Amino acid sequence: MIIAVDGPAASGKGTIARALARHYGLPHLDTGLLYRAVAATVLREGLDPAVEADAVAACGFPDALLDDPSLRTDEVGKAASVVSAHPLVRAALLQRQRRFAQQPGGAVLDGRDIGTVIAPDAQVKLFVKATPTIRAQRRHLELRKQGANVSLDKVLADIRARDERDSQRSTAPMRQAEDAAVLDTSFLSIDAAIQRAVALVEERSHDG
Ligand code: CDP
Ligand code: CDP
Repeated sequence: MIIAVDGPAASGKGTIARALARHYGLPHLDTGLLYRAVAATVLREGLDPAVEADAVAACGFPDALLDDPSLRTDEVGKAASVVSAHPLVRAALLQRQRRFAQQPGGAVLDGRDIGTVIAPDAQVKLFVKATPTIRAQRRHLELRKQGANVSLDKVLADIRARDERDSQRSTAPMRQAEDAAVLDTSFLSIDAAIQRAVALVEERSHDG
């Protein structure tokens, strides 16, 4: 069984994907980390994605980088959203994600284009969403816990800019697959969101 989980920043898709993987005993790939790893490498090497797209796409990274906490910063998230708009960068990461999705026994992947591009045949597709204000509040809380001194307005503006970039790019834009079930987590606790996700997977996997 392939479970595709897509949605915008701080919608809760990562939390839900990890919980589903645990529940069903499936391996999980957070595909955002791949784009974050490219972005971190670009930032470190001082490449300009706007003029050096080939070099950016050719940017290899060691697998160990995927575990590095520095990938989780907002700065890297924003840079990931810029580099991920390049078709060459997306092409360079495509096979790795497809192989992960197609491993025997199944997998859970979360990102922006799993249900539409990486695994269009996935048995279960969830599109996780929440209002921009609530997503900004969640991200703001996380940043405060990390000791960052940033206003809620700034976090909201960043979330809106990232939504806009991710949904307006021409290659593999973030969008809900036609056959995806929508899970709005705006007014759900984490536990309630996970319960709802399991219920949707049960419904969908028995249908198909
Ligand atoms: O992966 P994505 O950026 O979509 O979101 P996440 O990292 O799973 O969740 C973002 C934040 O929202 C985390 O701090 C979660 O604990 C929190 N969250 C929440 O408060 N309520 C939910 N129903 C889901 C997530
Ligand atoms: O956790 P959060 O939603 O904030 O970010 P992420 O999932 O780590 O993704 C960072 C950026 O990578 C996103 O803003 C997208 O631009 C890009 N991305 C993508 O284009 N396609 C994916 N499948 C996953 C991430």
